[in-house]
Amino acid sequence: MLNSFHPGELWLDNQDVHINAHGGGVIFHEGKYYWYGEHKIGGSNGNSAHVGVHVYSSSDLYNWQDEGIALPISEDPDSEICKWSVIERPKVIYNSKTQKFVMWFHLELKGQGYHAARTGLAVADSPTGPFQYIKSMRPNAGHWPLNVTPEQQDPESIQRTIEQADKFFGGHSIKHEDYNILGAHFSGGQMSRDMNLFVDDDGCAYHIYSSEHNATLHISKLTDDYLDHQGIYTRNFPFRWMEAAAIFKRKGKYYFIASGCTGWDPNTARSAVADSILGPWTELGNPCVGVNPQNNMGPELTFGAQSTDVFQVNGKEDCYIAMFDIWKPKNAIDGRYVWLPITFTDEDSFEIKWQTSWSI
Ligand code: DGJ
Repeated sequence: MLNSFHPGELWLDNQDVHINAHGGGVIFHEGKYYWYGEHKIGGSNGNSAHVGVHVYSSSDLYNWQDEGIALPISEDPDSEICKWSVIERPKVIYNSKTQKFVMWFHLELKGQGYHAARTGLAVADSPTGPFQYIKSMRPNAGHWPLNVTPEQQDPESIQRTIEQADKFFGGHSIKHEDYNILGAHFSGGQMSRDMNLFVDDDGCAYHIYSSEHNATLHISKLTDDYLDHQGIYTRNFPFRWMEAAAIFKRKGKYYFIASGCTGWDPNTARSAVADSILGPWTELGNPCVGVNPQNNMGPELTFGAQSTDVFQVNGKEDCYIAMFDIWKPKNAIDGRYVWLPITFTDEDSFEIKWQTSWSI
């Protein structure tokens, strides 16, 4: 039995198998924690979906029981979630009104690389599933963000950007700032790649996703059943190219961590604080401190890892755990987990310090 965390090392489940829940998230429900993540296979093929979303359960956060595949890929080759699609960063939230577990994830369609930029969702009656796939979409078709500008709504600017559509990719390929990506996607829905979910104290849920070719992050309110977007959203951190976002709340303030945008390679983490989840957000800089001796990567490379989620330990007021992945794109199944405690430095700021081992 484990009684401590060992960031970056193999983490064996109750069957002595390395936990297979990458890009994951943790929820607490009726006395147990559930960890959902991407089930990866060996080799570089493991970067596409071959099995589905894996779920584990735990009562102490150190020792995890394999609960199987919560959302299996579809055997139907025409399904959006078929083998060779990309199913990333699955997150699950519980809706106490409908008593359903709702899973959202980043979905890329088979054979299209990362061009589809969609989000998919699935629903279950039990935390361990089985989850039923419902649909995918690009969020907020036909809705402008709360902080839209008149220029973004200008038909000429939209048309000029649509004519250049094949020149934009998920990186700094051309000057995105000179075009109107938001406006170009107004009718069809906004792009949605790396994502997370956040449920506020009032039960309202939000979808946070890298949009506009990853240049700008959108935060979007979900409907009461958590199965759709309400059309209420904001653009945040414009042209800061953020991925891997996670939001948590402490003493009425909203906190944020994310990464930059460098594929599977590590980069410098970001953090931010806000009084409202829809912003405006104030950037706080890189929260990481220390060096991972396993790879000699320090704060400028996030210990060799990339953020995926932050959750609060049940019943512990100031105990928040930041979850990161060390990706192994050439042998995806060997990806490692880095879980570290968040330390609050003053009223508005926090740090995430490397620890070789630690306990709650
Ligand atoms: C970085 C993202 O954070 C990951 O989830 C994944 O999409 C990789 N990019 C793919 O290169």
